[in-house]
Amino acid sequence: MKRILSGVQPSGRPHLGNYLGAMRQHVEMQKDFEAFLFIADLHALTTVKDAEKMRSQTYDLAVNYLALGLDPEKTIFFKQSAVSEHAELCWIFDCLVKMPYLERAHAWKDAVEKGKKEISVGLFNYPVLQAADILLYQPDLVPVGQDQKQHIEMARDIAQTFNNTFGETFKIPEPLIKDDVAVVPGIDGQKMSKSYGNTIEIFAEESVLKKQVMSIITDSKELEESKDPDTCNVIKLYKLLATKEEIQDICDKYKKGGCGYGESKKLLLNKILEHFSESRKKYQEIYPKKDYVYGILEEGAKKAKIIAGKTLEKAKKQIGYL
Ligand code: ADP
Ligand code: TRP
Repeated sequence: MKRILSGVQPSGRPHLGNYLGAMRQHVEMQKDFEAFLFIADLHALTTVKDAEKMRSQTYDLAVNYLALGLDPEKTIFFKQSAVSEHAELCWIFDCLVKMPYLERAHAWKDAVEKGKKEISVGLFNYPVLQAADILLYQPDLVPVGQDQKQHIEMARDIAQTFNNTFGETFKIPEPLIKDDVAVVPGIDGQKMSKSYGNTIEIFAEESVLKKQVMSIITDSKELEESKDPDTCNVIKLYKLLATKEEIQDICDKYKKGGCGYGESKKLLLNKILEHFSESRKKYQEIYPKKDYVYGILEEGAKKAKIIAGKTLEKAKKQIGYL
């Protein structure tokens, strides 16, 4: 059975973009693969500098995955910070990776372009830690959203560099990117992202969800006017969840005229509520069960540590530490 691994930062409440671009694949992968999924709380320290937030966002993310159907019997699910091998292998890679190489990373370049002066060493080093996350488990595939492609390429490069320097140690993983949901637009039409404040949060209270959907930006065409479904942000999102027939139906109504944006927004809201109805119920059930949730993460970390430990030991032998 092929091995697959991914990680998600606990950097805020997950949104439709996270779900369609990443989380859905993370849950589905347990069906056909030996699956590993971790909460990337070491990475999140590059932005989250508040203990309560770190704790609650980590917990919330764990509950989200369990509510979406992640089965801890099938997927090894854990917190990155509970497996110290990640940080240890990161240091080893740090000594192989050159600074100009990391200066090519999109996240770093973006931060520099935005004029951020006080960028932490951790943010600069982010792709190296991600390479350690991946390579420790020798996965075949790494499912991520389009924006993570470069990080997977860097992990491949770093594996090659280590293998060339010390001998064959790490498997070279392949990225797994679903093109059809490459970039989910937010309520303002830009990429949906926590950092742009344009998200639709799948586990938000119904009133919040409604507010988010109702604030999707549209043009100012009158109710009777014919509308273009291809340029409408509401339809772009609706298309990601609705059936072919449902999509055809709303597109026809748009073109004919007489269908307002209020109507399509209601349709989208109901679609989201319907799609996540079981998960939203489960979320409410699981959320109060702290021992259960933490128990799963601890069990996952124990299993992960055994596998990560073996890879690290192999790397240490190659380097000459053992
Ligand atoms: P955010 O931009 O909200 O901070 P992250 O960078 O934490 O989201 O992304 C978490 C995962 O969700 C990544 O694998 C990323 O590719 C995916 N993802 C985030 N936003 C989108 C989007 N708008 N469309 C598709 N995938 C997305
Ligand atoms: N950087 C990823 C993101 O922001 C999260 C992540 C950390 C990750 N380590 C990983 C994803 C390893 C895949 C594999 O979404």
